Amino acid sequence: MGIANGAGPAEIVYDKATKRYPGQPGPALNELSLTVPAGEICALVGPSGGGKTTALTLVNRMTELTEGDIRIGGRSIRDTDPIALRRDIGYVIQQTGLFPHMTVAANVNLVPRILGWSKESARNRALELLELVGLSPAEEFADRYPTQLSGGQQQRVGIARALAADPPVMLMDEPFGALDPITRGNIQQEFLQLHSRIRKTILFVTHDVDEAILMGDRIAILHEGGTLAQYDTPDAILSNPANDFVARFVGSDRSLKRLALTTLAELPPSPLNGSRPAWPAAPASTSLREALATILGAGSDGLLVGDRDNPTGQVSLDALRRASTTTAARAS
Ligand SMILES: Nc1ncnc2c1ncn2[C@@H]1O[C@H](COP(=O)(O)OP(=O)(O)OP(=O)(O)O)[C@@H](O)[C@H]1O
Ligand SMILES: [Mg+2]
Repeated sequence: MGIANGAGPAEIVYDKATKRYPGQPGPALNELSLTVPAGEICALVGPSGGGKTTALTLVNRMTELTEGDIRIGGRSIRDTDPIALRRDIGYVIQQTGLFPHMTVAANVNLVPRILGWSKESARNRALELLELVGLSPAEEFADRYPTQLSGGQQQRVGIARALAADPPVMLMDEPFGALDPITRGNIQQEFLQLHSRIRKTILFVTHDVDEAILMGDRIAILHEGGTLAQYDTPDAILSNPANDFVARFVGSDRSLKRLALTTLAELPPSPLNGSRPAWPAAPASTSLREALATILGAGSDGLLVGDRDNPTGQVSLDALRRASTTTAARAS
């Protein structure tokens, strides 16, 4: 029996999960304990060799635990058949892992066909998923071979394939790693929108702190030797890094990064009270980081929120400054 029970996304619990590879002096993953709430994205970051891929592949038992446990929806993976586990967990790897001799549709349909879906319903599901990941019109992509697609399109197919059997859990190992910055930015945004609709529990490995901050509801930072340095929300990690290693890892511009997490609407803006300074205007959905860039670019002391001719509030440069330092100050 697998882990999919039709009950939606599942919580993932690492309970002192440890992996020692034979012949290695120390563990690759050292007593990792953390809980990823159902439906959240957990971004795993850390230096090369820090155990990120190991932490991921333990979940679907491509790598076997040495000690400790991992539970999905309350059920130990030790009690779950590895084949059933892999069927119920979507897996996206950096090199996409598409089969070159199979069409795009056949690649997407791999798991549904194994599950015994009819050819027709599997085909329909593949077309639906290709549209979902932005390969539209799907009919145009379905019968091509992977080499006839760009790198970014191949990665979308990899994501569609991982979604095919509607798994409650997805493992993604640097899924956007090979993309240029613009394509990557687009895919990140699209994937976040997709996630808000399909709600799956996702473990997402990346080398890139900015990507972790953007994608992760929570971020787990692994140290060399596979020990957990910190596990918290992006805002808490940026405002309160647990130690020097984390502070260095997230970068000296962490107050700026924090500003990117908050919108003008969330600040919130101050009332205009009849005044109308000659400041630039920005929509309420603008991040504080973009707002700061706008203010600095215009050489003003603040900006108007909303429509230029009919603003709903104002934010001063001082207010932005305070927002970037309030919790950060507590940390130091
Ligand atoms: N099959 C294996 N046999 C022996 N050692 C391994 C094996 N797989 C990984 N390791 C070692 O375990 C440690 C963690 O590797 P892992 O692949 O989990 O790191 P990672 O954080 O994903 O690194 P990267 O960012 O480079 O992908 C490394 O020191 C690696 O050399
Ligand atoms: Mg890796």
